[in-house]
Amino acid sequence: MSARLVVLVSGSGTNLQALLDACADPAYGAEVVAVGADRSGIEGLERAERAGIPTFVHRVKDFASRDEWDAAVAQEVAGHRPDLVVLAGFMKLVGDAFLAAHGGRVVNTHPALSPSFPGMQGPADALAYGVKVSGCTLFVVDAGVDTGVIVAQTAVAVEDDDTVDTLHERIKVAERTMLVDAVGRMAREGFTLDGRRVRFGR
Ligand code: GAR
Repeated sequence: MSARLVVLVSGSGTNLQALLDACADPAYGAEVVAVGADRSGIEGLERAERAGIPTFVHRVKDFASRDEWDAAVAQEVAGHRPDLVVLAGFMKLVGDAFLAAHGGRVVNTHPALSPSFPGMQGPADALAYGVKVSGCTLFVVDAGVDTGVIVAQTAVAVEDDDTVDTLHERIKVAERTMLVDAVGRMAREGFTLDGRRVRFGR
């Protein structure tokens, strides 16, 4: 049986698209059952709609508090009974209610090599620091900012003439492959957390 994925997005959704494309093959072992966002009018939601996948939007500003927003997102996600929740360019930190409901089964993809350059501007921070190698990290979300147990990483060269956009685009090419490979393994093989390591298998 396919693992049920709920994917949360905030932007263009190219990582979501890579997952949707992978899920078209039954052998991949996963299906995207819903896509959620913290804002409307984004390409990520359109990709889901084109694929016939249910979507939902919860905007922080429509709730009395950040905690109420977090609880609403957690409840909506739970309604789709996910085996794995994938944050794919979701530009919000999830909170206590979300982690209480889904913790240990939530992965996030980040455009830098953790533990370097956490936060919302990984490629810009890497470029400003002058590193020669950056990349992407898939990790199991915990209460910190990009601090969770690492599932997969891919290194990407920084070129001398890179801008934030050219570096981020090069990272995203590697990121989509990393995400599809790692989520597929998690779906097909299962996984457990062992300290700072992910062990595949049931
Ligand atoms: C990805 O590079 C992802 O790692 C990043 O946003 C991009 C989304 O691209 N996420 C973060 O920076 C979160 N801290 P996409 O919408 O085309 O998948």
